[in-house]
Formats: sequence, structure tokens, C-alpha cells
Amino acid sequence: MGRGTYEPALSAGITSPYAHLRQYVFSRTLAGADPAVEIVSGDPVAFVRELKQQDGMDVWLCGGGELAGTLLPEIDALIVKCYPVAIGAGIPVFSTAFRPHRFGLVDSRSFAGGAAVLTYTRGLD
Ligand SMILES: NC(=O)c1ccc[n+]([C@@H]2O[C@H](COP(=O)([O-])OP(=O)(O)OC[C@H]3O[C@@H](n4cnc5c(N)ncnc54)[C@H](OP(=O)(O)O)[C@@H]3O)[C@@H](O)[C@H]2O)c1
Repeated sequence: MGRGTYEPALSAGITSPYAHLRQYVFSRTLAGADPAVEIVSGDPVAFVRELKQQDGMDVWLCGGGELAGTLLPEIDALIVKCYPVAIGAGIPVFSTAFRPHRFGLVDSRSFAGGAAVLTYTRGLD
């Protein structure tokens, strides 16, 4: 996750928000807050490429938009939760230059309250 995503947890006194996972926070300013959370200041793309070479389960990008924009070329799947609420202003899902990346819908689930979970995997771009 990016520092902007980690900060709300830190403010609430939660220093290890996903303790069941190996956790990395990308930041050039943050000092370590918990031995279970590694602060990474280097290039996120190179770091994730290296992670993908390692044994283990999938890599989950928690967010937020700035980090996701940087890592977009390395994202293989998107799981999008949609809620039936129109809000207006907000933080972009991907804060990056305009360059479309194509994904294909592979699963969808909808719920009685109007929420939907859509799963996409990377297609040709
Ligand atoms: N709805 C959801 O599912 C969801 C999921 C995640 C987050 N969010 C929300 O999104 C918001 C945060 O998103 P955001 O876009 O503002 O911030 P973000 O992407 O979480 O974090 C941005 C920070 O990450 C660090 N960073 C980014 N690129 C880096 C790089 N190349 N190398 C090293 N560090 C790098 C920088 O920290 P430094 O300034 O310390 O260097 C930067 O300020 C929060 O409000 C959070 O609640 C929502």
C-alpha cells in the first residue's frame, strides 16, 4: 500500500493492518512503525516485479490511487466493488497519465442492496 493508504490506519493506532499478510508500505518519508510492516522507498515497479519472482501467493495492491497509477503496468487483475451511490469528487483509482490498459470481465456478482463485485483480468493493450 501507499503511505496515503497506511496513514488512516496509523492515525487510528493500527500499525499492522493486514497482519495475516506480508506487508509493504511505499514511502520516501515514513519511518518504520511496526516490525511487521516493511517501508519501501525504491521503485515500486521494480519491487513488485521482484516480488512476483518469489514463491508465495498472489500480490495484493491495497491502494491508493497514486501507488496504483505507478503500478498499473504490473496489475494483472482488478476486483472492483461498485456501490449504487453517486458521490462526485474523490481520489482517482489510478493517478497517472492517460494511457488506456484493457481488461476483460471474468466474473461478476451482484447483491440485493445494489452492490456489485466485478473481476477483470488483463487483456491486450
Ligand atoms: N476504496 C478503497 O478500496 C481504497 C483502497 C485504498 C486506499 N483508499 C483511499 O485512498 C487514499 C490514499 O490514496 P492516495 O492516492 O492519496 O495515496 P497512496 O497511493 O496510498 O499513497 C501515496 C504515497 O505513497 C508513496 N509513494 C507513491 N509513489 C511512490 C514511489 N514511487 N516510491 C516510494 N513511495 C511512493 C508516497 O509517500 P511519501 O509521501 O511518504 O513518500 C505517496 O505520498 C486514502 O484516503 C485511502 O483511504 C481507498
